[in-house]
Amino acid sequence: MWFKKKNIETEKPVYPRHIAIIMDGNGRWAKKRGMPRSFGHKAGVAVAEKIIDYAIDIKLQHISLYAFSTENWQRPDEEISTLMTLFDTYAEKVINRYYAEKTERYKSLYIRFLGDTSVLSPSIREKIDTIEVLNRERTPSTIVNIAVNYGGRREIVKAVNDFIARNPGKHITEADIEKYLYFSGQPDPDLIIRTGGEMRLSNFMLWESAYSEYYSCPVYWPDFSPEDLDRAVIDFNKRTRRFGGV
Ligand code: IPE
Ligand code: IPE
Ligand code: MG
Repeated sequence: MWFKKKNIETEKPVYPRHIAIIMDGNGRWAKKRGMPRSFGHKAGVAVAEKIIDYAIDIKLQHISLYAFSTENWQRPDEEISTLMTLFDTYAEKVINRYYAEKTERYKSLYIRFLGDTSVLSPSIREKIDTIEVLNRERTPSTIVNIAVNYGGRREIVKAVNDFIARNPGKHITEADIEKYLYFSGQPDPDLIIRTGGEMRLSNFMLWESAYSEYYSCPVYWPDFSPEDLDRAVIDFNKRTRRFGGV
Protein backbone atom coordinates (compact mmCIF):
# COMPACT_ATOMS: atom_id res chain seq x y z
CA MET A 1 0.00 0.00 0.00
CA TRP A 2 1.30 3.43 -0.88
CA PHE A 3 0.86 6.37 1.39
CA LYS A 4 2.42 9.79 1.49
CA LYS A 5 5.16 10.18 4.07
CA LYS A 6 4.15 12.87 6.50
CA ASN A 7 6.62 15.70 6.44
CA ILE A 8 7.17 16.52 10.09
CA GLU A 9 9.67 19.25 9.44
CA THR A 10 7.75 21.65 7.25
CA GLU A 11 9.35 24.75 8.70
CA LYS A 12 11.97 26.38 6.52
CA PRO A 13 14.93 27.96 8.27
CA VAL A 14 15.61 31.64 7.69
CA TYR A 15 19.36 31.99 8.03
CA PRO A 16 20.80 34.92 9.93
CA ARG A 17 23.95 36.75 8.83
CA HIS A 18 26.40 35.13 11.21
CA ILE A 19 26.35 31.69 12.84
CA ALA A 20 29.13 30.63 15.22
CA ILE A 21 29.70 27.03 16.28
CA ILE A 22 31.58 25.63 19.28
CA MET A 23 32.54 22.27 17.78
CA ASP A 24 32.64 20.14 20.93
CA GLY A 25 32.40 16.43 21.69
CA ASN A 26 35.06 14.87 19.44
CA GLY A 27 36.73 13.08 22.36
CA ARG A 28 33.50 11.65 23.78
CA TRP A 29 32.38 10.58 20.32
CA ALA A 30 35.60 8.58 19.89
CA LYS A 31 35.48 7.16 23.41
CA LYS A 32 31.96 5.87 22.82
CA ARG A 33 33.42 3.87 19.93
CA GLY A 34 36.38 2.60 21.96
CA MET A 35 38.72 4.70 19.85
CA PRO A 36 41.43 7.25 20.77
CA ARG A 37 40.44 10.95 20.96
CA SER A 38 42.45 11.65 17.79
CA PHE A 39 39.96 9.51 15.86
CA GLY A 40 37.23 11.93 16.96
CA HIS A 41 39.27 14.95 15.90
CA LYS A 42 39.85 13.46 12.45
CA ALA A 43 36.14 12.79 12.05
CA GLY A 44 35.51 16.33 13.31
CA VAL A 45 37.55 17.90 10.50
CA ALA A 46 35.49 16.03 7.90
CA VAL A 47 32.29 17.38 9.46
CA ALA A 48 33.66 20.93 9.50
CA GLU A 49 34.30 20.57 5.76
CA LYS A 50 30.76 19.32 5.22
CA ILE A 51 29.29 22.22 7.21
CA ILE A 52 31.40 24.75 5.27
CA ASP A 53 30.03 23.29 2.04
CA TYR A 54 26.54 23.58 3.42
CA ALA A 55 27.20 27.20 4.42
CA ILE A 56 27.98 27.91 0.77
CA ASP A 57 24.79 26.11 -0.35
CA ILE A 58 22.60 28.18 1.96
CA LYS A 59 24.55 31.37 1.17
CA LEU A 60 25.45 32.02 4.78
CA GLN A 61 27.41 35.26 4.96
CA HIS A 62 29.54 34.50 8.03
CA ILE A 63 30.28 31.24 9.81
CA SER A 64 32.71 30.98 12.71
CA LEU A 65 34.06 27.65 13.92
CA TYR A 66 35.85 27.26 17.26
CA ALA A 67 38.64 24.79 16.57
CA PHE A 68 41.24 25.30 19.35
CA SER A 69 41.10 27.51 22.42
CA THR A 70 43.91 29.26 24.28
CA GLU A 71 43.13 26.81 27.11
CA ASN A 72 43.39 23.69 24.93
CA TRP A 73 47.22 23.75 25.34
CA GLN A 74 46.56 22.08 28.70
CA ARG A 75 45.75 18.82 26.91
CA PRO A 76 48.26 15.93 26.62
CA ASP A 77 51.14 16.59 24.19
CA GLU A 78 50.03 13.75 21.97
CA GLU A 79 46.54 15.18 21.49
CA ILE A 80 47.92 18.67 20.79
CA SER A 81 50.32 17.23 18.27
CA THR A 82 47.46 15.40 16.49
CA LEU A 83 45.40 18.59 16.39
CA MET A 84 48.29 20.65 15.03
CA THR A 85 48.94 18.08 12.31
CA LEU A 86 45.24 18.19 11.43
CA PHE A 87 45.31 22.01 11.20
CA ASP A 88 48.37 21.85 8.98
CA THR A 89 46.83 19.25 6.65
CA TYR A 90 43.57 21.17 6.66
CA ALA A 91 45.23 24.48 5.75
CA GLU A 92 46.98 22.73 2.87
CA LYS A 93 43.67 21.28 1.74
CA VAL A 94 42.03 24.71 1.96
CA ILE A 95 44.62 26.06 -0.47
CA ASN A 96 44.25 23.16 -2.89
CA ARG A 97 40.53 22.70 -2.70
CA TYR A 98 39.08 26.16 -2.27
CA TYR A 99 41.72 28.41 -3.79
CA ALA A 100 43.85 26.57 -6.34
CA GLU A 101 40.99 24.98 -8.22
CA LYS A 102 39.30 28.32 -8.75
CA THR A 103 36.01 26.56 -9.32
CA GLU A 104 32.90 28.65 -9.69
CA ARG A 105 31.55 27.17 -6.47
CA TYR A 106 34.41 28.34 -4.26
CA LYS A 107 35.51 31.55 -5.88
CA SER A 108 33.60 33.76 -3.45
CA LEU A 109 34.60 31.78 -0.36
CA TYR A 110 36.91 33.48 2.09
CA ILE A 111 38.60 31.32 4.75
CA ARG A 112 40.27 33.06 7.68
CA PHE A 113 42.17 31.69 10.66
CA LEU A 114 41.56 33.89 13.68
CA GLY A 115 43.37 33.80 17.00
CA ASP A 116 46.93 34.08 18.25
CA THR A 117 48.40 32.23 15.29
CA SER A 118 51.92 33.55 16.01
CA VAL A 119 52.72 30.53 18.19
CA LEU A 120 51.64 27.95 15.62
CA SER A 121 54.29 26.05 13.66
CA PRO A 122 56.02 27.89 10.78
CA SER A 123 54.45 25.37 8.42
CA ILE A 124 50.89 26.24 9.51
CA ARG A 125 51.63 29.99 9.63
CA GLU A 126 53.03 29.92 6.12
CA LYS A 127 49.81 28.35 4.83
CA ILE A 128 47.65 30.81 6.75
CA ASP A 129 49.67 33.67 5.22
CA THR A 130 49.24 32.18 1.74
CA ILE A 131 45.46 31.97 2.26
CA GLU A 132 45.36 35.59 3.46
CA VAL A 133 47.16 36.74 0.32
CA LEU A 134 44.78 34.69 -1.87
CA ASN A 135 41.81 36.22 -0.03
CA ARG A 136 42.87 39.68 -1.21
CA GLU A 137 41.92 38.73 -4.76
CA ARG A 138 38.42 37.75 -3.73
CA THR A 139 35.12 39.41 -2.99
CA PRO A 140 33.59 37.10 -0.43
CA SER A 141 29.97 36.04 -0.24
CA THR A 142 30.67 33.49 2.50
CA ILE A 143 33.31 34.24 5.13
CA VAL A 144 34.49 31.25 7.18
CA ASN A 145 36.34 32.13 10.38
CA ILE A 146 38.28 29.27 11.92
CA ALA A 147 39.26 30.16 15.48
CA VAL A 148 42.61 28.56 16.29
CA ASN A 149 44.45 29.37 19.51
CA TYR A 150 41.57 31.72 20.08
CA GLY A 151 40.50 33.10 23.44
CA GLY A 152 37.81 35.73 23.90
CA ARG A 153 39.70 37.35 26.76
CA ARG A 154 42.97 37.30 24.87
CA GLU A 155 41.24 38.91 21.91
CA ILE A 156 39.99 41.80 24.05
CA VAL A 157 43.39 42.28 25.71
CA LYS A 158 45.03 42.29 22.27
CA ALA A 159 42.57 44.89 21.03
CA VAL A 160 43.25 47.16 24.02
CA ASN A 161 47.02 46.80 23.66
CA ASP A 162 46.91 47.46 19.91
CA PHE A 163 44.85 50.57 20.57
CA ILE A 164 47.19 51.87 23.30
CA ALA A 165 50.25 51.28 21.11
CA ARG A 166 48.77 53.48 18.41
CA ASN A 167 47.02 56.01 20.66
CA PRO A 168 49.10 56.46 23.81
CA GLY A 169 47.27 58.29 26.59
CA LYS A 170 43.93 58.33 24.78
CA HIS A 171 40.65 57.28 26.38
CA ILE A 172 39.39 54.02 24.85
CA THR A 173 35.83 53.52 23.56
CA GLU A 174 33.79 50.47 22.53
CA ALA A 175 34.29 51.40 18.88
CA ASP A 176 38.07 51.51 19.46
CA ILE A 177 38.04 47.99 20.90
CA GLU A 178 35.90 46.71 18.03
CA LYS A 179 38.40 48.06 15.56
CA TYR A 180 41.18 45.85 16.89
CA LEU A 181 39.35 42.58 17.56
CA TYR A 182 40.14 39.54 15.41
CA PHE A 183 36.52 39.68 14.21
CA SER A 184 36.70 43.38 13.43
CA GLY A 185 34.50 44.44 10.53
CA GLN A 186 32.19 41.42 10.73
CA PRO A 187 28.70 41.46 12.21
CA ASP A 188 28.33 39.92 15.67
CA PRO A 189 27.12 36.31 15.64
CA ASP A 190 23.33 36.13 15.69
CA LEU A 191 23.37 32.51 16.80
CA ILE A 192 25.97 30.49 18.69
CA ILE A 193 25.54 26.72 18.52
CA ARG A 194 27.43 24.43 20.88
CA THR A 195 27.50 20.72 20.13
CA GLY A 196 28.23 18.05 22.75
CA GLY A 197 25.59 19.23 25.20
CA GLU A 198 27.57 21.59 27.45
CA MET A 199 26.05 24.97 28.19
CA ARG A 200 29.02 27.28 28.32
CA LEU A 201 30.98 29.59 26.07
CA SER A 202 34.45 28.34 27.06
CA ASN A 203 36.01 31.71 26.23
CA PHE A 204 34.51 31.97 22.72
CA MET A 205 33.62 35.35 21.18
CA LEU A 206 33.10 37.05 24.55
CA TRP A 207 32.86 40.57 23.16
CA GLU A 208 30.90 39.68 20.03
CA SER A 209 28.33 37.46 21.78
CA ALA A 210 26.84 40.25 23.92
CA TYR A 211 23.45 39.80 22.22
CA SER A 212 23.85 36.45 20.47
CA GLU A 213 21.19 33.79 20.79
CA TYR A 214 22.54 30.61 22.29
CA TYR A 215 21.68 27.03 21.30
CA SER A 216 23.06 23.87 22.87
CA CYS A 217 22.77 20.65 20.92
CA PRO A 218 23.43 17.21 22.52
CA VAL A 219 24.89 15.76 19.31
CA TYR A 220 28.68 15.28 19.40
CA TRP A 221 30.43 17.31 16.71
CA PRO A 222 31.40 14.31 14.47
CA ASP A 223 27.68 13.45 14.24
CA PHE A 224 26.54 17.02 13.53
CA SER A 225 24.72 17.40 10.21
CA PRO A 226 23.26 20.17 8.05
CA GLU A 227 19.85 19.06 9.39
CA ASP A 228 21.05 19.77 12.95
CA LEU A 229 22.16 23.22 11.83
CA ASP A 230 18.73 23.82 10.30
CA ARG A 231 17.05 22.69 13.51
CA ALA A 232 19.08 25.22 15.47
CA VAL A 233 18.16 27.98 13.02
CA ILE A 234 14.44 27.07 13.15
CA ASP A 235 14.62 27.33 16.95
CA PHE A 236 16.46 30.64 16.63
CA ASN A 237 13.80 31.95 14.20
CA LYS A 238 11.14 31.51 16.92
CA ARG A 239 12.90 33.78 19.38
CA THR A 240 12.30 37.47 19.89
CA ARG A 241 15.48 39.48 20.12
CA ARG A 242 15.04 42.71 22.04
CA PHE A 243 18.61 44.02 22.40
CA GLY A 244 17.54 45.67 25.64
CA GLY A 245 14.51 47.38 24.12
CA VAL A 246 10.85 46.54 24.58
C1 IPE B 1 36.27 19.64 20.65
O1 IPE B 1 36.13 18.33 21.10
C2 IPE B 1 37.51 19.85 19.84
C3 IPE B 1 38.56 20.63 20.53
C4 IPE B 1 38.46 21.22 21.66
C5 IPE B 1 39.83 20.70 19.83
P1 IPE B 1 36.77 17.86 22.46
O2 IPE B 1 38.14 17.36 22.20
O3 IPE B 1 36.69 18.92 23.50
O4 IPE B 1 35.82 16.64 22.83
P2 IPE B 1 35.21 16.31 24.24
O5 IPE B 1 34.51 17.54 24.72
O6 IPE B 1 36.36 15.94 25.13
O7 IPE B 1 34.28 15.18 23.99
C1 IPE C 1 35.72 24.46 23.65
O1 IPE C 1 35.69 23.13 23.98
C2 IPE C 1 36.82 24.72 22.66
C3 IPE C 1 36.60 24.21 21.33
C4 IPE C 1 35.53 23.61 20.89
C5 IPE C 1 37.69 24.43 20.42
P1 IPE C 1 36.45 22.55 25.27
O2 IPE C 1 36.20 21.10 25.27
O3 IPE C 1 37.85 23.00 25.28
O4 IPE C 1 35.67 23.29 26.46
P2 IPE C 1 35.52 22.89 27.97
O5 IPE C 1 36.88 22.56 28.49
O6 IPE C 1 34.60 21.72 28.03
O7 IPE C 1 34.92 24.09 28.62
MG1 MG D 1 35.28 19.42 24.90
